[in-house]
Amino acid sequence: MRVMPVMIGLTLAAAVWGRDLEPASSAEFCGRCHRTILEAWKRSAHARAMESPLFQDALEMAVEAYGAGTSQMCLNCHAPLASLTQDSSWRRKTTWEGVTCDYCHSVRSVALGAGNPKAAVELSLVKSGPLKDVVAPAHGAQYSPVHTTSLICAPCHEYRNALGFPVLTTYSEWEKSRYAEEGKGCPACHMYQVAGAVADPKVAANSSAKLNLHEMPGSHSVDQLNRTIKAQLNALREGDHLKVTVVIANVAAGHMVPTGSPMRQLLLDVTASPYGGETLHEQRAYRRVVADKQGKAVPREPDAFLRGASTLSDNRLAPDEKRTETFLFPMGGRAQVQVTATVSYYYSPLAEGEAQKRMTFLTLRRLVK
Ligand code: HEC
Ligand code: HEC
Ligand code: HEC
Ligand code: HEC
Ligand code: HEC
Repeated sequence: MRVMPVMIGLTLAAAVWGRDLEPASSAEFCGRCHRTILEAWKRSAHARAMESPLFQDALEMAVEAYGAGTSQMCLNCHAPLASLTQDSSWRRKTTWEGVTCDYCHSVRSVALGAGNPKAAVELSLVKSGPLKDVVAPAHGAQYSPVHTTSLICAPCHEYRNALGFPVLTTYSEWEKSRYAEEGKGCPACHMYQVAGAVADPKVAANSSAKLNLHEMPGSHSVDQLNRTIKAQLNALREGDHLKVTVVIANVAAGHMVPTGSPMRQLLLDVTASPYGGETLHEQRAYRRVVADKQGKAVPREPDAFLRGASTLSDNRLAPDEKRTETFLFPMGGRAQVQVTATVSYYYSPLAEGEAQKRMTFLTLRRLVK
């Protein structure tokens, strides 16, 4: 009978908090009990998907160029609770929270059909998730098989526009990879399990001791990039040239690198600096070039989403792919040459400032005598 006071405490807490819980609650509210998860989610791109200046600028451009009706389409993924709560004037906190808790945990199933993947969402006091048979004080809990698979991510990370052009293809790239065969879905790589209480110990003493990190590290994470892209550099003289080879491989991403937004690029820069001479430079870009109906490359994200009609070229690195690149620099003299290769990730032409546009995560050097 020692547990009695705790039980009463919990029931009281539930009664007090339960009153505030509404069918679409803010992340802050969920974080009263799920504090560790809230802190990790706050650092994610999902938490900034609506309020980031980059997205807001792009949204304004889209509305200016293609009409007010486009805004709803963008918000379906960048602020999914806006339309589900009929918040057309963006007054609710949950709209500004972007890809927030109560969207993902109100998804009951996801259908893959002829069109875009579609989630069935039910805003209620029942939260769906990966745990079986849990009892939560403030809300009902329902075990959901989609939450442990790639399906939960598909409605936003796979998209064909009105012209039938596939703008985002991360889900289908993954489907073709060996990771899909091995049953390793998006959460397995993007939501690692770490030690920690699912709910604050004050709320649930027996809360499982492992939780999924919600930070969703991707291309803004140096760790993820270093784990994924491996490169080797070699250089030797051949007559009056310097021959540089770089072997570059995608060893850990379950999709193309880069994936997602067609504006993303992986850049390989090679420079050769002879002692006392002029530095020579060459670049290879791994990217998908998307064109409009007239065959003209689209310059920005809004154009890709609305006018993208065909792929002009695509040399991205597929899962497990290894590529060898060769560069020939004219190098007459016998001076020592410092050869440098850097690999960087380019995010968006709309990003402000060089540091936001591009991040260098790998540097290799060779000295040729
Ligand atoms: C009053 C505290 C409290 C609040 C507020 C709260 N939760 Fe929970 N939640 C819990 C507890 C306790 C568990 C059970 C944890 C366990 O047993 O490991 C839980 C479990 C869950 C689960 C797992 C369900 C499953 O079957 O996998 C999800 C998902 C979840 N909560 C989401 C949310 C969301 C989203 C919000 C905000 C809308 C929220 N919670 C607000 C206490 C709370
Ligand atoms: C409701 C739509 C939605 C769902 C569901 C969703 N995402 Fe996202 N995701 C987005 C949007 C929008 C962005 C881009 C945010 C931005 O940068 O503006 C994004 C960005 C990302 C990023 C990029 C991080 C970076 O560094 O740039 C990763 C990784 C990611 N999502 C993984 C996932 C995974 C894994 C799942 C499934 C567990 C998932 N997402 C489910 C909408 C969604
Ligand atoms: C992009 C969708 C998405 C968002 C946003 C999201 N979750 Fe989750 N959440 C998931 C998925 C998917 C899992 C299961 C991952 C797995 O089991 O591999 C999960 C698991 C959980 C669990 C079960 C325990 C655990 O860690 O596995 C809780 C509780 C939870 N989330 C609460 C929250 C809270 C609170 C927020 C907001 C601060 C939030 N989630 C935001 C998709 C999301
Ligand atoms: C085998 C592990 C693995 C699997 C499976 C996986 N990813 Fe990734 N993902 C990564 C790594 C590593 C990166 C970082 C390198 C990069 O940005 O390409 C990444 C990057 C991303 C990015 C950031 C790309 C960008 O342009 O900013 C998104 C978005 C993403 N993943 C979504 C997903 C989705 C959605 C799925 C499931 C359909 C998925 N990932 C499955 C490992 C994985
Ligand atoms: C089907 C879901 C979906 C729709 C619709 C959508 N987006 Fe996105 N958007 C995403 C995802 C997912 C990413 C992240 C992809 C990645 O990391 O490579 C993204 C990335 C972006 C980025 C780059 C953000 C960054 O941090 O680099 C911008 C800008 C953007 N979207 C603007 C828009 C605009 C404007 C619209 C409407 C015209 C729109 N999006 C419609 C899902 C969507």
